[in-house]
Amino acid sequence: MTKSLDESLSFFKDKITDCIKSKKSISVTTHMDCDGLTSGSIITKALIRAGANCTVRTSKEFSKNVLESFKTDSRDFHVVTDLGGGFANELDKTLGDNWIVLDHHQISDEEKENQNVINSWKYGIDGGTEICAGGMAYLASVALDERNSDLSALAIVSALGDRQDQGERKSFTGKNFEIANIAKEQGLVDIDLDLLLVGRETRPLADALAFTSQPFIEGLTWNREACFSILNSSGVNLKEEGRWRVPAELNEEEKRQVIEAITKFASGKNATEIMTELIGYTYTFPREDNRSFLRDGREYSTMLNSCGRINRSGVGMAVCMGDRNKILREAETILTDYRKMIREYMNILSNERWRISESETCVMVNGEDIVPETMTGTISSLIAGSPKNSGKIVILRTKAEENTIKFSSRKSFSCTSDINLSEIMRTGAERFDGIGGGHNAAAGAKITKDKLDEFLKYLEVNVVNVSSSGNSQ
Ligand code: C5P
Ligand code: C5P
Repeated sequence: MTKSLDESLSFFKDKITDCIKSKKSISVTTHMDCDGLTSGSIITKALIRAGANCTVRTSKEFSKNVLESFKTDSRDFHVVTDLGGGFANELDKTLGDNWIVLDHHQISDEEKENQNVINSWKYGIDGGTEICAGGMAYLASVALDERNSDLSALAIVSALGDRQDQGERKSFTGKNFEIANIAKEQGLVDIDLDLLLVGRETRPLADALAFTSQPFIEGLTWNREACFSILNSSGVNLKEEGRWRVPAELNEEEKRQVIEAITKFASGKNATEIMTELIGYTYTFPREDNRSFLRDGREYSTMLNSCGRINRSGVGMAVCMGDRNKILREAETILTDYRKMIREYMNILSNERWRISESETCVMVNGEDIVPETMTGTISSLIAGSPKNSGKIVILRTKAEENTIKFSSRKSFSCTSDINLSEIMRTGAERFDGIGGGHNAAAGAKITKDKLDEFLKYLEVNVVNVSSSGNSQ
């Protein structure tokens, strides 16, 4: 019989306690995105605190190669976070009973039966919205020792990185909500309703407004001069003691003035919608320095994603583990480079010629030779956020290593399609000898190049030409 969540967590505790007692070494393998880096570091921190002999590494995906590497690995026990879905049987064959997966990706019913798989879906918890790998790692850490509850702040970063703040006004639901409240009670996070500007702690107000693309405000988004002009005439002091003020520094009256200026500018367009999207819950870590990119949960998560996406996972991992020295400057440079790269790719892809197939409900974009493999997910999320694609499913493809093609799919915010992208990607990839999976609203796949035409045909039939009522057109 399938274990309950509590039973699985105490199973995890027993396994780890046994490793520590018998001096077995533990290897943690995790994904390189924000959720991967946070879940990997939460569990590694908990293991180190418990006195385990452990090391951690990151991977951009879980593949046969990773499995092969386990065969020759001298470590005795493997903990895999944010990866490993679909590989339970292979892990059993390769490692016997010496492994645990902590995850939140959708898995088959058969896989749920395996007691070494500790996956949210097994316990009726929606891994797409209610908990991510960081949350699962947090629960496992607390099961190991209650004092690990101080790792709750990192679990908040993981959920923000995976865009699980999908409740009303960007709030959390389910386990994420519970974990955020634990962090709040411990004084580790402040949760406030505020303006959702990108770079709340680090960017001058006008820049923050210009670089916020959700909501997309026609005339302001990407237009720094226009933002400066409306803010300048709003009555808010944009500078203080010779330096630009950032959004987090505004008092209530000033926030009201900013809202009024934006509403006036957008009046007649979609001012109410814009305001609904622009005000939501912010997650601030009071123990981080003012104006640091680690103080705002969303900016922290972007920094971690940027480290993973440009192959600098080690920097992100060090920050999560608590390093606050020179590494911060490195992380800051990575974040700046990443934002620059995003702007470049988005600029190129804004040209219609890359939109290769389009219907009322879906758009396919060819990013081959433009977007590097590791950035595919970031760019597909951004394309899905553009007003042009509102209500649609976006599928982006890029070239990947060893003659493979990587697909990344996203439902835009207002998309009402019943299609489960995780199933589409998993089933399609399996049919053409690839690997795929993910979540209902965000999923990916990888196939070899020789299968590209067939896979595109499969997507045409099963996604592009399916109307919003679910029928093939
Ligand atoms: O591997 P993992 O589950 O962590 O990745 C999920 C990805 O999907 C993240 O990059 C997250 O930002 C993205 N996502 C999204 N829109 C959603 C849900 C997730 O872009 N509604
Ligand atoms: O790469 P991307 O961000 O589009 O991935 C979206 C989601 O799909 C992630 O949760 C990722 O782990 C999952 N995915 C997968 N198998 C793949 C590619 C992506 O499970 N081959």
